[in-house]
Amino acid sequence: MTRRALTGHGRLLTMSGTRAGPGTFVGPWTIVLRDDVIEEVRAGGLRAGDPEEVSEVGRALCTPGLVDPHTHLAYAGDRSDEVAARSRGERYTGGGILRTVASTTACPDEALEGLIAARLRRAFEQGTTTIEVKSGYGLAADAELRLLRLIGMAASGSPMRVVRTFLGAHAVPAGMTAAEQTEAVIDAVPAVVPMADQIDVFCEPDLFDVAMTRRILEAGRAHGLGLRLHADQLRRSGALALGVEMGALSVDHLEEASADDARLLASSPTAATVLPGPALLLRGGLPPVRALLDAGATVAIGSDANAGTFGEPSMTLAIGLAVMIGFAVEEAWWSATRGAATALGLADQLGSLEPGRRADLVVWDAEHEAEAAMRPGAVRPLRTCIGGRWS
Ligand code: NIG
Ligand code: FE
Repeated sequence: MTRRALTGHGRLLTMSGTRAGPGTFVGPWTIVLRDDVIEEVRAGGLRAGDPEEVSEVGRALCTPGLVDPHTHLAYAGDRSDEVAARSRGERYTGGGILRTVASTTACPDEALEGLIAARLRRAFEQGTTTIEVKSGYGLAADAELRLLRLIGMAASGSPMRVVRTFLGAHAVPAGMTAAEQTEAVIDAVPAVVPMADQIDVFCEPDLFDVAMTRRILEAGRAHGLGLRLHADQLRRSGALALGVEMGALSVDHLEEASADDARLLASSPTAATVLPGPALLLRGGLPPVRALLDAGATVAIGSDANAGTFGEPSMTLAIGLAVMIGFAVEEAWWSATRGAATALGLADQLGSLEPGRRADLVVWDAEHEAEAAMRPGAVRPLRTCIGGRWS
């Protein structure tokens, strides 16, 4: 057994509360780590009985490691021309996904694994310690299995915990109907189970409608996968209500959700994952952030780093953008840690600094958490600890 202590005299955000409004220590604080878990978090400096191995971080801000609950990092190719077209007024329909499917399918395994690994590194360098990564740019069962396998290989070289999600229902392949792809996705579920923790569907009336989504999620649930949805991003279709009804871990995007939807979510254990980067860049409307937070829903934020709408796997940027669309600074940090851990079904293990949780924490090159809003995407870890290991 190895015990180590971390002590500082600046701001420590523990996220010990179950709603936004993080436990904040200001002034001397001490954390004791035992192997890969947190043993104790307390106000005050070192005292008798504390471990001999001590790191002193001075006035630097200390928080739980950031958790990114929504990314699509397994792709090759470039669609920045679509971003330029949308900046001139074109609307996003999800149609470009098939371009990425083609470039990803054409990319050899080793090169694709390298691309995923580089994106994971970028996330880690910006303070993310747990990250969800979806498949979804393969579509055919064998291509989706390849992506999940390559995500796993890239993950094994990363210090982060990587949660894998099967997103075979991301687009309808050329020459197929949505109903046919729905059947193909359901048929693929048993084969993907050893390589995935969760299942996701891009639920939209023109893609996979609510009835198709229900069947896909039922198949995932029958095989023990956690459920999540791309819900009410482009149209308000009932996807959010379906997620609540089925006990999904999270419904994500929500640009078209209403205040009533926010109240429905608040009365359920399902989390709302808001993705500020693509919400702003797509210019289609913003999720009802204040209605969600004020109703008391569990709100997470994620980067949504993907091939077509928003590319940067940075949770510090997501925090900064979240503040710009209505989050209070402390709400944004809570949503990027404990809220995001809840959206992944992992809040009993990580996302807060409390006895028994994993020793995942970041010491920042900032003294106050509001610097993430003042310098969006620019605050950086000075030191990161994952499972008790410093890097
Ligand atoms: O979460 N909305 C659907 N999927 C991705 C974008 C995928 C793409 O356009 O390549 C998202 O924004
Ligand atoms: Fe997404």
